[in-house]
Amino acid sequence: MSTYEILFSPTGGTQKVSRIVLEGLDCPVQTIDLSNRFTDFSAAALTPEDTAVISVPSYGGRVPEIAMQRLRQIPGNGARVIVVCVYGNRAYEDTLLELADCAGAAGFQVIAGIAAVAEHSVARQFAAGRPDAADREQLLDFARQIREKGDSSSPALPGNRPYKKRGGSGMVPKPTEACVSCGLCAARCPTGAIDVRDSKTVNAGACIGCMRCVTLCPQSARRLSGVKLAAVTAMLTPLCAKRKENELFI
Ligand SMILES: Cc1cc2nc3c(=O)[nH]c(=O)nc-3n(C[C@H](O)[C@H](O)[C@H](O)COP(=O)(O)O)c2cc1C
Repeated sequence: MSTYEILFSPTGGTQKVSRIVLEGLDCPVQTIDLSNRFTDFSAAALTPEDTAVISVPSYGGRVPEIAMQRLRQIPGNGARVIVVCVYGNRAYEDTLLELADCAGAAGFQVIAGIAAVAEHSVARQFAAGRPDAADREQLLDFARQIREKGDSSSPALPGNRPYKKRGGSGMVPKPTEACVSCGLCAARCPTGAIDVRDSKTVNAGACIGCMRCVTLCPQSARRLSGVKLAAVTAMLTPLCAKRKENELFI
């Protein structure tokens, strides 16, 4: 009987939530990283005795397409799963439902869902510092409730089918003059959008605007245009004004 952490976390917020939930489940964990474009996801060998925590960020109220494509390749084989969607305090809309549908289609048995808040990866002033101490206590309590759940029934989850229409992010970070072409961003880009031979060249069509390159650059040499960031900030300011709370569906 094993516990799997399956996650897509370009900038680490989703991973923070996932790690707290797994700490609450209190089992040794094997990780499958959906952001690693070099992994053979079909090679995962889950069994009906296993449990998985599948965590993704919400992008425009949906599961990131690339995370879905990779999750579909993992044979769930009846393993029990807790689906977790992490969002930046605006809204998660159809993300949790879509993730549960995708996990079910891959052969997992969904037994619980969590929606949790983490720092907004585009405009970091929103939900800054989350998950915080209060989130941690709450997420640990959610994990305790899931551990004590007596059956493997599937919970009702919020969201609509058909899902919300996907919007292109349109947010392609660009290198600045501080870029020393070290290649780290190209190596770690979830989609391979940055040229490995010339990290100043970006395939905008392949970029999903996940902000990993912005977050991990040791020179802080990648960023969104000021105009784009100002527009996103203005859009998010009224929508993120109130603190949203984590939710458990069991
Ligand atoms: C392209 C993109 C779209 C996003 N869309 C939403 C959204 O619809 N609602 C929201 O509350 N947060 C949204 N966010 C914020 C992320 O869901 C949130 O910051 C999450 O914690 C990022 O996960 P990560 O740190 O694991 O990359 C978006 C972030 C990105 C990069």
